Amino acid sequence: MKDTLTECIKEKKTSYTPIWFMRQAGRYLPEFREIRKQNPDFIKLCLNERLAAEISLQPIKRFDLDAVIIFSDILMIPYALGQKIEFRKGIGPILGDLNFNVILNTKSDDFIEKLSPIYQAIKRVKKDIGDKNLIGFAGAPWTLLMYMLNKKSPKNDFNIEKILKNKSLMRDLILKLEDMIFIHTKEQIKAGADIIQIFDSWAGLLPKNKISEYCYTPTSKIVKNIKSLNTPVICFPKGIGENYINFCSAVKPSCVSIDYEVDPQWIKEKLEGMPVQGGMDPKILLGEKEEIKKNIEKYLNVFKDYPYIFNLGHGVLPETKPETIDYIIQTIRKKK
Ligand code: CP3
Repeated sequence: MKDTLTECIKEKKTSYTPIWFMRQAGRYLPEFREIRKQNPDFIKLCLNERLAAEISLQPIKRFDLDAVIIFSDILMIPYALGQKIEFRKGIGPILGDLNFNVILNTKSDDFIEKLSPIYQAIKRVKKDIGDKNLIGFAGAPWTLLMYMLNKKSPKNDFNIEKILKNKSLMRDLILKLEDMIFIHTKEQIKAGADIIQIFDSWAGLLPKNKISEYCYTPTSKIVKNIKSLNTPVICFPKGIGENYINFCSAVKPSCVSIDYEVDPQWIKEKLEGMPVQGGMDPKILLGEKEEIKKNIEKYLNVFKDYPYIFNLGHGVLPETKPETIDYIIQTIRKKK
């Protein structure tokens, strides 16, 4: 019998390893690239409820996965707050100038209205997936702020002092984002999402003395609100290393998603039973089967008899062969 992700998280069941992949609906799938080719405007694609639902379902048509993640993007929140966003090929997202007044004065009704195609897509997907779980998501305040102020990926070009220089404005923005992120996740839950994942992809850029103010505190408020709706929350504070433990005690997510730099044995010993998700390096999927198998076994052995959801330590890379995803799922299913 298959257990769902919610059973693994809420009841801490360990008899079955649920599997899904971050970016399972994405560029490594030829059927996604086909739709994408005909839809050059990525934001518009995310707001096309029929196509967003179809893309969300593509991975479960091919693979024996336990969950569907809604096809959307964390940058839909800055978009709904009035910031221009473009996705350039080979570069990634480019954001327009941000207008503090527009952002801070955005009303929740207008915000929900702008994002309503996402909620409609969730309703469509929910009807088609039987007892598989449906995952909704949002970016964490810090990661959204990062994109909104830096106006592009901070990967190569980013100056934290510059970003944080106007303290009172930052405080207002964070509070606004806390509210809007919660509203967005609540609407996803109302539409049928069973679980929410919060992506803090750039948490690792925060210096130690700022991590509490910009990551733990705002995220913990959102997590508390989502949990009050009786919905589990998975948090992914990527790149924070040994601070994963402080994060978990401060934020208390229902489950923590680990990146590929986290030693699974170390975190298991420190977590006192909190369910864990992910870990395996997505780059390993580009290599030999033997290496892939060895890595899967590493995670399954560490998390044997522990509530564990199989996933990667970040999203599936576009160069990944779809057969590799199938191979991973078969390997895990054979083990249990
Ligand atoms: O399958 C899924 O996981 C669901 C859909 C999903 C997308 N983005 C679709 C997408 C999810 C959960 C996201 C989250 C997201 N978006 C994050 C957090 C996770 C992470 O990767 O750290 C971030 C930082 C973004 C912002 C973003 N969106 C970037 C930086 C980019 C361009 C570079 C990249 O990684 O692809 C995107 C575009 C994007 N979002 C694509 C997809 C399928 C690729 C679009 C394309 O160019 O065809």
